[in-house]
Amino acid sequence: MLQVSILLAAILLDADGREIHTCYTYDTTVEYRPNIKQLLILLVPNNNSACDIFPAGANINVTIGNTDFATTVPLPVYLPYSYTISNFGYQNTTQIAVEGFSLPLDGLGDEISIDFLLIEIYSYAEITRIEILEMQTIISSLSECFYADMPMLVTKDSLYISMNATGLCRIQIGALKSIQVTIEGKQFSFDLMHSSLVDLKTNYNHNVKFNLNLNPGAVDSFSFTAQKPDIAATAYLLTNDGAIDTRIDLVFSEVKYDTILNFYSLSSMSLNDKAFIFTIISKPQSLTALRAKLLLTGYTYNKRILRLIVTTNEQSYTFDYITSKYNALQLHFPFKCSDQPSNQQQQCLTFYEHVRTSSNVKITISALFFYNDNILAVQHNVIDHIPQVFERVYFNVGSGSQSCLHLQNTVQNTFGAEVTNFKFNIMRADNYSVKGNFEYNVVYDHSKIEICFNDALLQDAVRENFMALMIMSQGDKQYVHVFQESKNNSQQDSILANYILVTVFSIATTVFVAVRLFIFGKRIKSLKKKKN
Ligand SMILES: *[C@@H]1O[C@H](CO)[C@@H](O)[C@H](O)[C@H]1NC(C)=O
Ligand SMILES: *[C@@H]1O[C@H](CO)[C@@H](O)[C@H](O)[C@H]1NC(C)=O
Ligand SMILES: *[C@@H]1O[C@H](CO)[C@@H](O)[C@H](O)[C@H]1NC(C)=O
Ligand SMILES: *[C@@H]1O[C@H](CO)[C@@H](O)[C@H](O)[C@H]1NC(C)=O
Ligand SMILES: *[C@@H]1O[C@H](CO)[C@@H](O)[C@H](O)[C@H]1NC(C)=O
Repeated sequence: MLQVSILLAAILLDADGREIHTCYTYDTTVEYRPNIKQLLILLVPNNNSACDIFPAGANINVTIGNTDFATTVPLPVYLPYSYTISNFGYQNTTQIAVEGFSLPLDGLGDEISIDFLLIEIYSYAEITRIEILEMQTIISSLSECFYADMPMLVTKDSLYISMNATGLCRIQIGALKSIQVTIEGKQFSFDLMHSSLVDLKTNYNHNVKFNLNLNPGAVDSFSFTAQKPDIAATAYLLTNDGAIDTRIDLVFSEVKYDTILNFYSLSSMSLNDKAFIFTIISKPQSLTALRAKLLLTGYTYNKRILRLIVTTNEQSYTFDYITSKYNALQLHFPFKCSDQPSNQQQQCLTFYEHVRTSSNVKITISALFFYNDNILAVQHNVIDHIPQVFERVYFNVGSGSQSCLHLQNTVQNTFGAEVTNFKFNIMRADNYSVKGNFEYNVVYDHSKIEICFNDALLQDAVRENFMALMIMSQGDKQYVHVFQESKNNSQQDSILANYILVTVFSIATTVFVAVRLFIFGKRIKSLKKKKN
């Protein structure tokens, strides 16, 4: 760092303006990105009000030097990159990108290493200097041209790619020629005849969002991917600056066929007592959008497949629910290993155990709507998997008006001994009409396995043929469980428990979920009243 002080001494002598000190902190850094020829200065203002004086049209000089290099060239070595910024603001200009910047080469043809770097920001009358003691070299920038969140939506005729630019690849994207896309092994090429590519080429900059719309011009080019929940797709941008082709690979965060994103609100799978139970709750606005999409096809669907694919690192299992009509009241889809043909039970139990102990579980849900064999609409989404909290939950209907909730084999000690709010939304297991909503406050902690409620109405609701959604809340901790009773009502064994989901929600989510479910229950009730 000897060199830095020598340089500063030299500069102070020929400083022509009034110098303002400590405008920036020592956290100010510089990054060098050789492959995109960019020097990025990341300024950290020191909130020194004296520095507010710099006008919007400030000048900036960047000077670099190196001691080894200096042995072959007289000292000091100045390599000034001088330019003017038009919207400079002391408080808000925190990034300055010096484009087209390359380090000079030494006698052996290698880039020189830098020992000092000085940034000067000046106007006619004032100057401030920032000496940078360390510079980082970052090379991988061509993979950083866009932020990682880059979903692609495939429709029967077009591809839509949402991309958010980092601004790091201005030079390359400015020379954009085409985009090459491979979908499930088929290749497509799109050139600048596509106006959204021209938009990308022209307006590429930091934090600018683009939505590429690529249409090969043929009918139904992409229908062949409709039933795949995850479409295999790769793509790259091809740029050419007159001499060399550069390839910028794109990595998609998600590739879905004509899907409404975030379709479901509270949806999840739970494992309980050798049963998988899927709880699927669509957002009302999603359903409206889906209905509109179906309407546009001009057909009324006569087959709907609800397909749940549960995947772990090693195995995958597909659960299909096929109906001719969609019943909006059905929220819970149970799948019991004991209901499977005897030659498949062992496989089911093995998979159940595998999922139960697996830390990496993905659940995709596909809703496929057909008219005969023609696919009309699809909806592919991923839903949460929340690790199990209890191994088994069920109601035991007792004597008098008592019914006791059993929370067996706590896997996680989530609840301390505190007043806990229990809410139950209980519906009929056969036609999903609401039997009742109940709410209790009880002191509960995880060591308790039985809680009894003295409520004749609750007892009546859980006596048989029910599906119960339970929300347990303690402060801002919340659990949601769904459990189901078999029609056989002979004490403990009659109860087929259930389903457990959800660990800790924020309070906001808590209220939202509870309100949605309970409003739902009320609406059904009032509908019933109207009918009667
Ligand atoms: C300058 O002020 C901003 C906003 O008030 C603050 O976030 C920042 O930490 C301050 N910087 C310093 C170096 O004090
Ligand atoms: C900035 O660089 C330019 C071009 O080399 C030079 O004319 C000017 O004097 C420099 N300004 C300062 C304050 O060093
Ligand atoms: C900084 O703020 C000023 C005034 O609000 C604005 O004119 C200028 O464009 C801003 N500059 C940047 C780099 O955001
Ligand atoms: C994407 O761009 C917007 C502005 O259009 C910005 O606010 C947002 O933070 C960017 N996203 C990411 C992931 O940086
Ligand atoms: C469900 O079944 C019960 C008992 O058969 C009946 O009273 C109720 O009206 C049915 N509800 C719906 C929505 O079909």
